[in-house]
Amino acid sequence: MDKHFYITTPIYYPSAKPHMGHAYSSIIADFFARFKRIDGYEVHFLTGTDEHGLKIQRSAESKKIEVQKFCDEISKTFKNLSTTLNLSNTDFIRTTEKRHIDSVKEIWKILEKNKSIYLSKYSGWYSISDEAFYNEDEIENSNGEKIAKQSKSKVEWIEEESYFFNLSKWQDKLLEHYEKNPDFISPQSKRNEVISFVKSGLKDLSISRKSFSWGIKVPNDPNHVIYVWLDALTNYISALNFPNVNNKLYKKFWPANIHLIGKDILRFHAVYWPAFLMAANLNLPQKIYGHGWILSGDEKMSKSKGNILDPIEIVKNYGIDPLRYYLIKEISFGNDGSISKKQLENCINSDLANNFGNLCQRVTAFCEKNCNGKIPNNIEFNSNDLKLLDNFSKNVGNIRNEINNQNINFYIDFIVNALFDANKYFNDEEPWNRKNDLKRLNTIVYTTFEVIRKICIMLYPIIPESSLRALKIFDLKENDIIFSSITDHNKLKPGDKINKIEILFKKIEKND
Ligand code: ME8
Ligand code: MG
Repeated sequence: MDKHFYITTPIYYPSAKPHMGHAYSSIIADFFARFKRIDGYEVHFLTGTDEHGLKIQRSAESKKIEVQKFCDEISKTFKNLSTTLNLSNTDFIRTTEKRHIDSVKEIWKILEKNKSIYLSKYSGWYSISDEAFYNEDEIENSNGEKIAKQSKSKVEWIEEESYFFNLSKWQDKLLEHYEKNPDFISPQSKRNEVISFVKSGLKDLSISRKSFSWGIKVPNDPNHVIYVWLDALTNYISALNFPNVNNKLYKKFWPANIHLIGKDILRFHAVYWPAFLMAANLNLPQKIYGHGWILSGDEKMSKSKGNILDPIEIVKNYGIDPLRYYLIKEISFGNDGSISKKQLENCINSDLANNFGNLCQRVTAFCEKNCNGKIPNNIEFNSNDLKLLDNFSKNVGNIRNEINNQNINFYIDFIVNALFDANKYFNDEEPWNRKNDLKRLNTIVYTTFEVIRKICIMLYPIIPESSLRALKIFDLKENDIIFSSITDHNKLKPGDKINKIEILFKKIEKND
């Protein structure tokens, strides 16, 4: 039985306060992790911090803090972010941990043994902010400074002795892999970008630096530190105890099912990482998904631009579930999107308070009054009821497929429509006018409850806490959240007491 699922987020540079882009990557990954878990998979979900390199060294220096101490402190804020965002990650890796350092040294040695590494001299453009090398045609002038076209970050010229990885040798093998595995890079637009970049010709990659010290030392040449991206990418397997490839974690979870990343770091994941893995004779991950950016106006939200909406403050003011719901629903997955307080408030009022929260309250209150506060007995479904209920069983396979293609938009649209249908059903059936046909009244309440149960299960990966609070109506707990049970029409036991619950989402009063 191969019901294992391994998903990763990028490991974050602890150079700044966490921002909305970080929160976005993590929440999306958590959505997939939780969905797979309720669909019966054993899930490994990795996140962490990427702590080496010149960028971090300089940040620490500018704050006059010893680098390791600086990393310890900021890594902690990212670890806390996992709690704030209610992430269900099963590990949190730091690249300054021994388990990681040992793995990176080992992969270096393997690459060296396989003749993929040689010593030479690097001269070219480097962006410290991106920790990336750029070709001449990838930079431009801006106010007398050279910047990278794609990221707009400053580049500087460097010239130093450096070890190289023979990336050029892997060009054809990479293209062959993209060809044979059309889903390896998603979405398609990103795949095309990568393919044309690789086709334009790969140069060997500088993978060590001599001019600073904050990094993992090259085995047998301590004057060099290993390029921070070779270091960082290895986290995906160091967290599985690589090079011990016979241990349980590695055997179960490598190759990863998906590396979820932002589109700005696609080249590292879709070109360098697979080439390193091929050169080390290791399996490649199944998929690299490059999601869009959270924009502020029409710019990428980022610390260096100072246009940040602080996720921690948003959570403090609105709660975590509204933020999760907003990011998953309102940002069309794969594209860029934006968030503002006003957009968030509209979404809370219309979707969460009105469509979901209110339905739960209404039906519960009606049941208290008219069915003794118990799951009704004496049910007979008619075609209206069955239409509503069958929608879930008919689509269960579809939903799984769409999720396997990262079609979050399909998933959330399904829920939004189901909520709309459920509200409409309850209104149109008018159970309050059926007091002399108790069988019908009971069936309407039962049907609506069943639909609420199914919707709560589907909402769990998006808004886990609120889903669990709503399921308290039926005394259902986390263990009862099983995706396949959305096909069942008779899960709720007639005669069981239902519970009144607190308001799920408070409507936000607005002055405009
Ligand atoms: O890139 N919108 O770390 P990072 C959406 N350490 N996503 C955004 C974003 C935005 N405005 N800004 C950043 C790194 N991100 C490396 C990763 S992995 C081996 C090493 C996303 O802290 C970004 O695309 O700069 C990336 O996926 C993640 O946040 C971490 O960015
Ligand atoms: Mg970045």
